[in-house]
Amino acid sequence: MRDNDVKKEWDNSAKAWADFVRTGKDYYRDGLNNPAAFELIGNVKGLTVLDMACGEGHNTRILARKGANVTGIDISPKLIELALQEEKKKALGIKYLVMNAAHLTGLPDSCFDLVTCFMALQDIEDYRKAMSEASRVLKPNSRFVFSIPHPCFEKISLDGKITDAADNYLGEIKYPIHWNMERLSMPFKTISFHRTLTDYIDAVNKSGLYVSRLVEPKLTEKAYRKYPRLQENLKKPQSVIIESVKIAMSHTVERSRR
Ligand SMILES: C[S@@+](CC[C@H](N)C(=O)[O-])C[C@H]1O[C@@H](n2cnc3c(N)ncnc32)[C@H](O)[C@@H]1O
Repeated sequence: MRDNDVKKEWDNSAKAWADFVRTGKDYYRDGLNNPAAFELIGNVKGLTVLDMACGEGHNTRILARKGANVTGIDISPKLIELALQEEKKKALGIKYLVMNAAHLTGLPDSCFDLVTCFMALQDIEDYRKAMSEASRVLKPNSRFVFSIPHPCFEKISLDGKITDAADNYLGEIKYPIHWNMERLSMPFKTISFHRTLTDYIDAVNKSGLYVSRLVEPKLTEKAYRKYPRLQENLKKPQSVIIESVKIAMSHTVERSRR
């Protein structure tokens, strides 16, 4: 079945991943990607937000602390269990559900003001269906914001060798990621998919959304002083963040008449 190996690896990696994220070792997130993503997202106070593929809930909690009413969903029961443990320790009013992003069964149409998906669409096998589900549950004129490793600069594991994705840019590649950096408490493995920017933008458009902004996060001088290891990101983005908006019905009619 689709997604089974992705789910299995994330379940097996849940504890190691949570340790990585919660102990400040994920410095790409803390120093580069989150500052850019949350600046783009802006004020979420009072918004009803779905955090798709929320993992152990680090960014879900940030959204809740900023005043959003948040639901977090993830395919990995183990990661959701870890997220729920945090919610028990310090309640932020977050609702967590084990759910495949490609089948948001039980979530009604047009009920969210914002859907986020932080650095996860590259791990979702049926990313096109996940995007159309994001669009379905969004209210008209509301935003779907997602980030992915930049497909032009990521490294991928191909036939056991680490290569530049740019060398095999066109087409989809399913590959394992061996998380074995020294700073980890234990190594782990996950499954990911390389796709082109065109693939993602095409999926956005086919989901009844249109791209309103694209950000390639650049390391600030201040963040560089705190995270000198991110030096190469003064010149090269590690991720791309895409903001899209659900087309209201009248706009769709307008477009199709042209
Ligand atoms: C790199 S992690 C990012 C997690 C979280 N967004 C964060 O920023 O910490 C990717 C996540 O995607 C989830 N995932 C993969 N396929 C999924 C699917 N089909 N539906 C829901 N979640 C999925 C994994 O379980 C994992 O939690």
